[in-house]
Amino acid sequence: MNLAEKYKDEIADILSRYPVRRSALIPLLYLAQQENGFITEGAMIEIAGMLKLTPPQVYETATFYTMLNLKKVGKFHIQICKSLMCALVGSDTVIGWMKTKLGIGPGETTADGLFTLTAVECLAACGTGPMMQINDDYYERLTEEKVDRILADLRTTGTSSMKSGPFMWPDRAGARV
Ligand code: FES
Repeated sequence: MNLAEKYKDEIADILSRYPVRRSALIPLLYLAQQENGFITEGAMIEIAGMLKLTPPQVYETATFYTMLNLKKVGKFHIQICKSLMCALVGSDTVIGWMKTKLGIGPGETTADGLFTLTAVECLAACGTGPMMQINDDYYERLTEEKVDRILADLRTTGTSSMKSGPFMWPDRAGARV
């Protein structure tokens, strides 16, 4: 089943938000990513057709943003911010600690398929760094102890009360939804 069939209502809602059709590109790519955790070539071609873009135009956007995955990631995709404000308060230490705990480096996935580690640019939580996003959730003011607790929680229950909230798209009025 293709995206247009499976997500008919969601796609119609996204398209209705943008007077310029191509502006719906990133939300549609994000929607396509929900399917398998990454965006397939077929999905990019389908989205190009929806927005009257060429597949390379979709590809060049999909490869620009670290929030969009073009290959399979682990069950938990850990994205640690490495930009300036987080770096000033210790993101290097958090990345180093995560590498030690998971035995992998940025761009790698643990052998059990549970965790993928990525170092990314600013995730817009600069005042509460060091921070990371795991799947849709933000985790802020990280310490080594907090990282240990989060990893243990995810391994045992699949979620963690340490999260501060989900990443959300703004609604039409600009509020977070
Ligand atoms: S610099 Fe890390 S969230 Fe902005």
